[in-house]
Amino acid sequence: TSWVMHCTERTFVAIKPDGVHRALIGRTIARLEDKGYSLVALKLLKPSRTLAESHYESLRSKPFFDNLVSFITSGPVCAMVWEGKDVVAQVRKLIGNTDPLSSAPGTIRGDFGIDIGRNIIHGSDNISNAEREIQLWFHSEELVEWNPNLHE
Ligand code: TYD
Repeated sequence: TSWVMHCTERTFVAIKPDGVHRALIGRTIARLEDKGYSLVALKLLKPSRTLAESHYESLRSKPFFDNLVSFITSGPVCAMVWEGKDVVAQVRKLIGNTDPLSSAPGTIRGDFGIDIGRNIIHGSDNISNAEREIQLWFHSEELVEWNPNLHE
């Protein structure tokens, strides 16, 4: 029903330039689809400096901030919105820890990454950040509402 669509949770996911260069878009999407989530928005873009700095604004004081912004703006990013039950926390589990050294095998970072500065993928860390990031990266018309009937 449309009630389910409107009340279900959404998160923002971005495959970073290293993940795009390494041809991990398809496998990342497959993992999230296999888990049971629905893609509601998708685009490939080279983010502006303004967008990258806003996205990571809470990290502005960190020593790695400039490198992080340079890296994110260096090439294509595959920006997505995913929807479904508990999607914010579940996507963080599927992604793994920030540092690939402590990401378990079976997670995206645990399987595909070795460097914290090249950790392939971003996923919102809580529901309010998910809403903020979705608004930052997408216009509301870019979000496609459809009912996958998976979580009723
Ligand atoms: P953060 O939001 O702490 O982690 P996550 O992406 O897991 O939510 O950090 C954002 C990104 O900043 C992280 O994915 C990689 C980069 N980063 C570094 O390059 N060095 C660091 O020491 C940390 C903590 C993060």
